[in-house]
Amino acid sequence: MDRVNEEQSSEKLEAQAHIWNHVLSYTNSMSLKCATELGIPDAIHQHGGPMSLTELVDALPGVDKTKADCVYRLMRILVHSGFFVLEKIDSSNYEEGYSLTSTSRLLVGDHPFSMKPLVICGLNPILTEPWRQLGRWLQNTEDHTPFHIANNGMSFWEYKERNPRFSHLLDQVMASDTPLVAGVITRDCRQVFEGLDSLVDVGGGTGTLAKVIAEGFPQIHCTVLDLAPVVAGLEGTRNLKYVEGDMFEFIPPSDAVLCKWILHDWSDEKCVQILKKCKEAVTRDEKKGKVIIIDMVIDDQKCDHKSVETKLFFDMLMMTIVGGRERNEKEWAKLFSDAGFSDYRISSLLGLRSIIEVYP
Ligand SMILES: C[S@@+](CC[C@H](N)C(=O)[O-])C[C@H]1O[C@@H](n2cnc3c(N)ncnc32)[C@H](O)[C@@H]1O
Repeated sequence: MDRVNEEQSSEKLEAQAHIWNHVLSYTNSMSLKCATELGIPDAIHQHGGPMSLTELVDALPGVDKTKADCVYRLMRILVHSGFFVLEKIDSSNYEEGYSLTSTSRLLVGDHPFSMKPLVICGLNPILTEPWRQLGRWLQNTEDHTPFHIANNGMSFWEYKERNPRFSHLLDQVMASDTPLVAGVITRDCRQVFEGLDSLVDVGGGTGTLAKVIAEGFPQIHCTVLDLAPVVAGLEGTRNLKYVEGDMFEFIPPSDAVLCKWILHDWSDEKCVQILKKCKEAVTRDEKKGKVIIIDMVIDDQKCDHKSVETKLFFDMLMMTIVGGRERNEKEWAKLFSDAGFSDYRISSLLGLRSIIEVYP
């Protein structure tokens, strides 16, 4: 083979491998889901040290002992992708066992920042099925999202309202994100909340973040605004209360409105409607408060390849499930200006998400 032909075939083989990797990359998510549902991170955590394959198989309820080799292969790919490591069980022999990494520690059920609900909910067919409809949706002028096509015209929020079990799981996923964010907010971002007397957490779910803010800043009177099925029956505290309501209709007046993981759920048009309601809430009696947004900013120039990829994954997820999007700074700035705000400031203190303070 001459040199040109040789280069062309190695390029083609690389291209083939690239396509194989993309087509099969669901193997990563499905293997992770399987391990999480079987309780593998919990079993290794409870074992308290490197765990041999035999010990692991014995500890997993319901796993057929004759499938030990299959568990070995499941663990092999998860070791490869960094979820577990193999370590010597004891220094006198060469037997190795599985240990947790900082990533799989977050999949232990009783870890304070556990992401176990996310792994289980995020790969639920209700969220994966709409992806099969993406092409059809792009060819269709009528349906709002691929989720609508997969669910007989029902929106994600309608589905959530009609399915209490799924709704509860999703509320758990949202709540499980809070401890990590809350730690950063109360430690590194105190200046964002200092000086406020009142704050409304719009779409605040079951109030996990508002509770941390109410405790960390006792002078702030916090209100959690969410749809009736989410907040019905929840009890407040001295400086925290729950209000049932629709953010498109009315947001109670306050010094600040917090929107964490809200605006990426919605189209530009809907975001401008929400932001106008936020502006009404923080502008009263000559006082001008602010809106605090916690969401992603796609900044491909400043971010590494992996972080940009995660943000683009979320962008596609929002398009497919709820009709929302992740935005770059220019797109955010346009929303703020269309909703009548005059200025904003972005701080990137929260990993892949930013805190955006928006001023009337
Ligand atoms: C992605 S979750 C974010 C929850 C919370 N802010 C967090 O970050 O954990 C979106 C929230 O918006 C709420 N929501 C959806 N539509 C709403 C509406 N029209 N008015 C008020 N809340 C709404 C949902 O019930 C849900 O709790």
